[in-house]
Amino acid sequence: MASLLRRLPVSLGPRSYEIAIGRGNLGRLGQELKAIDSGLKQMIVTSNTVWSLYGKIVSDSLESNGFDVSVTIVRDGEEAKSFQSLLTIFDMLLENEFERRSGIVALGGGVVGDLAGFAAATFMRGIRYVQVPTTLLAQVDSSIGGKTGINHPRAKNVVGAFYQPRLVWADASTLSTLPEREIRSGLAEVIKYAVISDPALCRLLPENASDLLNASNETLIEVIYRCCSIKAHIVERDEKEQHDLRPTLNYGHTIGHALESLTNYVEYTHGEAVAIGMMGAAQISLEIGTTNRDMVHAQEDMIRSVGLPTTTSHPINSEELTRQLQKDKKRLGGRVRWVLPRKLGEVFLTEDVPESVVQRVVNDLTHPKGIEVNCT
Ligand SMILES: NC(=O)c1ccc[n+]([C@@H]2O[C@H](COP(=O)([O-])OP(=O)(O)OC[C@H]3O[C@@H](n4cnc5c(N)ncnc54)[C@H](O)[C@@H]3O)[C@@H](O)[C@H]2O)c1
Ligand SMILES: [Zn+2]
Repeated sequence: MASLLRRLPVSLGPRSYEIAIGRGNLGRLGQELKAIDSGLKQMIVTSNTVWSLYGKIVSDSLESNGFDVSVTIVRDGEEAKSFQSLLTIFDMLLENEFERRSGIVALGGGVVGDLAGFAAATFMRGIRYVQVPTTLLAQVDSSIGGKTGINHPRAKNVVGAFYQPRLVWADASTLSTLPEREIRSGLAEVIKYAVISDPALCRLLPENASDLLNASNETLIEVIYRCCSIKAHIVERDEKEQHDLRPTLNYGHTIGHALESLTNYVEYTHGEAVAIGMMGAAQISLEIGTTNRDMVHAQEDMIRSVGLPTTTSHPINSEELTRQLQKDKKRLGGRVRWVLPRKLGEVFLTEDVPESVVQRVVNDLTHPKGIEVNCT
C-alpha cells in the first residue's frame, strides 16, 4: 500500500538533492527522474537477488516514462565491490554509448550503492546517478552523503570518491523481503544515530523494538526518516570529513571494522560488528571516566532489544583484534581516533585512550562470560 512520501533536502549548494522515503513508491521512480531532468539513457546497476525481486517494477517505471534503459547485474555480496565489477559497468556504459548527461540508477544495498556511485563518479569524469536503496542499512546510511567506492583485494573501501547522488529514492516496502538478520544489522546503524545525536530515538528504540523488526510497520518509516535527517545534517556541515563532525558517524566502527576484518567478513554482519564495537566504545568511555554506567546500560538495552550481540559469540584472540586495530591505525596516519559517548545523544573524538584500557575492554568483548576460554 502506498503511503505518504516524506521528503528531506540535503543542502550542499550546487550538489544539493532530496531524499524521498515512502512505501510503495518504487514504481514512481521514472516520473521522479523525469521531474529532475535526467538524461534519456539510464543504466540500472543492481545485484542478482534485488533484480529478481524489484528489477521489473523499476525498469517498467523508467521505460514507461520514456527512458532508454540498460541493466548491469552484479553478484550478491561484498565481492561485487571490486575492480572487476567496475570494469563490467564501464564496458556496459561504453557499449550502450552513455555520455555525460546519461545516468546510473543504483538499485540495491550498500554494496551496489557504493559500486554504482563510484562508477558514476569516474566514468567520463562524472555522470549523474540516483540511489534506490533496498536494505535498511542503505536506506538509513550508505545511500546518503556521497561516499562511493570499491575494495582493494588487500583493504576494504580504500578506492573511492566523494560524489553526491542526484536523488535518494527509498521505498520501505522493499524491506519486507530482506532477511531479518539484515534488518537487525541496519538497526545497529539506527542505534548509532540515536547514541551520537538523538536521545529521543534512544527512548523510542527499546519500546518499539518488535515493530522495527516488522518491515511493514509505520514506526520504521519514522525511524528511517529521523536517521536520514541526522545524516543529512551532518553531511551538510562536514561533507568531506574536514571537521570533527562526519567522523562521529564512525561510532562503534573502530572495533567493529577490526572485528569484521579479523573474521574475514563472514562471521558477523557489519551491523553485528558495529553493535559489539559500540559496546566497546561505551566501556572505554566508562573506564576513562567520560561517561557513566547508566549510559552504558541504556545502550546495552537498545542493542539487546533488537537482538543484536553485545559481545562476540565465542572467544576470539583479543591480542589479534588489538593488532588489527593497530593496522587500521597505521592507515589512518598513526593514530586511532576513538568516537566515544559522553551521554545518550552526545559523542566526542579523542586519540587519548591508554592501550591498557583498550586491551582490557577488547578482552571483555571477545571473551563472553559463561563460555570456556581456550585461546592461544
Ligand atoms: N557509502 C557509505 O557511506 C557506506 C556506509 C555504510 C556502509 N557502506 C557499505 O555498504 C555495504 C553493506 O551494505 P548492505 O548492508 O546493504 O549489504 P549488501 O548491499 O551486501 O546487501 C545485503 C544482501 O541483501 C540483498 N538485498 C538487498 N536488498 C534486498 C531486499 N530488499 N530483499 C532481499 N534481499 C536484498 C543483497 O543482494 C545482498 O545479498 C558495505 O560494503 C559497506 O562498506 C557504505
Ligand atoms: Zn556502518
